[in-house]
Amino acid sequence: MIIVIDGPAGAGKSTTAKEVARQSGFDYVDSGAIYRGFTYLYLACGCDHSGFLKKLHEHDLQFDFHITEARVFSGDKEITREIRSREVSNHVSEVAAMPEVRNVVCDILRNISGNKNAVLEGRDLGTVVFPDADMKFFLTADTDARAKRRYEEQIRTESGISLDEVVENLNKRDHIDSTRAIAPLKKADDAVVIDSTAMTFEEQVARIMQYIRNYRTANK
Ligand code: DC
Repeated sequence: MIIVIDGPAGAGKSTTAKEVARQSGFDYVDSGAIYRGFTYLYLACGCDHSGFLKKLHEHDLQFDFHITEARVFSGDKEITREIRSREVSNHVSEVAAMPEVRNVVCDILRNISGNKNAVLEGRDLGTVVFPDADMKFFLTADTDARAKRRYEEQIRTESGISLDEVVENLNKRDHIDSTRAIAPLKKADDAVVIDSTAMTFEEQVARIMQYIRNYRTANK
């Protein structure tokens, strides 16, 4: 069974998807971590667009997705922490807009999930990667709420970061993610919308778990 949760940055997709996966006993797959891994490689190439694309198919990235944890490696080096850096955050939308990268990531996601029971989170999972997913959710929240959550998350790893910088990065990424020509951030027609602006984390998870229970009962 494939459950996808799409939505903009800071809507609470990661924490929600991890908890939904934990409560369901499913694997958790963070597709943004894959785009971030490729962005790490792009930066390592000095942002040389054509040099990066030439090496794209020989990439050395490995992804280890467990229930509630996503670890990323480049060769022998673990880059789980590095992919959350400010530099990667500032370039990831640019890399995620490259059609060649999207094709590679789409294949990785389909291979990882195969016949598994998985909860995946991203931007285009319900529309492009898994159009036939069993359940689709679109998790969103207003910009202020999302920026505040992202800031609280990023301040743990980026000591000098300001809320203004997070808002600016979020607005820029929202714009690039939803206006890019290929696979823009978009709600699938058959996705359930969850607006988490005024919800606690527990409420968000409970709402999704209720849909999953109803789905399972109806499809027994
Ligand atoms: O969820 P995140 O902020 O870690 O995602 C990082 C970037 O990756 C985000 O700006 C857009 C991109 N992304 C995407 O284009 N498609 C996905 N399925 C997941 C992420």
